[in-house]
Amino acid sequence: MQTNLHGRDLIGDLDFTKEEVETVLDVAWDLKRKRALNEPHAYLRDKVLAMLFFFSSTRTRGSFEAGMAQLGGHAAFIESKSTQIAHGDTEKEIGDIFGRYFDGIAIRHCDWGIGNRYLNLVAEASRSPVLNMQCDMYHPFQCLADLMTIMEKKGRDLRKKKMVVSWAYAASYSKPISVPQSLILQMPRFGLDVTLSHPPEFALMPEIMEQAQAQAKKYGTSFEVVHDMDEGFKDADIVYAKSWGPLVFTADIEKGAEVTKKYASWITNEKRMELAKEDAIYMHPLPADRNIEVTDGVIDGPHSVVFDEAENRLHAQKAVMALTMG
Ligand code: CP
Repeated sequence: MQTNLHGRDLIGDLDFTKEEVETVLDVAWDLKRKRALNEPHAYLRDKVLAMLFFFSSTRTRGSFEAGMAQLGGHAAFIESKSTQIAHGDTEKEIGDIFGRYFDGIAIRHCDWGIGNRYLNLVAEASRSPVLNMQCDMYHPFQCLADLMTIMEKKGRDLRKKKMVVSWAYAASYSKPISVPQSLILQMPRFGLDVTLSHPPEFALMPEIMEQAQAQAKKYGTSFEVVHDMDEGFKDADIVYAKSWGPLVFTADIEKGAEVTKKYASWITNEKRMELAKEDAIYMHPLPADRNIEVTDGVIDGPHSVVFDEAENRLHAQKAVMALTMG
């Protein structure tokens, strides 16, 4: 067990070593058990977390806020629009000043080319840990909850299991690429053979791909890329199919929408799920574009673990907060 997490930031998925992530998971399961038994676990009494949002949220806000209360502390919900950031408060000022008020600063900032830099600049100036509630590059707390869920469903030894991280079509908006990037970085460390499946225009950031390849090599797992949804799903133990924007290809919204329209057939439906293993699980971080990105039959069907996955956000985040802010 690693015990040196006090005061540490969690911005990118590789900020914590594999052993440190294992510690997080152990604590998360302990906290999940305590909550199920109604056992008090106020490890953060009198501590306060700032939750600074530049982008909307359902699960992330709810789970961080509930988690801090369950740990005996408080979470302050701060919408960037209601602050003086637009009037000139810099990253340094937010980091230095909020670092004095708060015991942790959690930030969601998904703007392409801006969000990750913002978090890192705040972290440089803050004496309190900075926690990434999703940026343009990473969604580490989603990924921790995903890993926890996969282990609950498939066991802690994930060697020789195939996970497909697949692009899926959605019409609602150009979603960040942070979820697939986090998954391809973290999952190889835990033994999963990862297949990334996407149309050519939906490639992820080259430096993240290189890091994912390096992780797979280091941990003796496979990492491959295909451009065919059916091929990706074939014989998968874990199907993780969601939409993301063609941001590396083009940051232009209209051009991106045109490109996206070409791939409306990339939907997760019952027929495609049949290509995966019989006991495959279907995962999605939510929100999903129902019957566009995934059919109701799949997301509400027997393979789906999306509600357990959403619940695990709470336990994984409480674990990281208790370890870093305690
Ligand atoms: N999965 C996830 O991060 O959900 P929200 O955008 O609702 O927070």
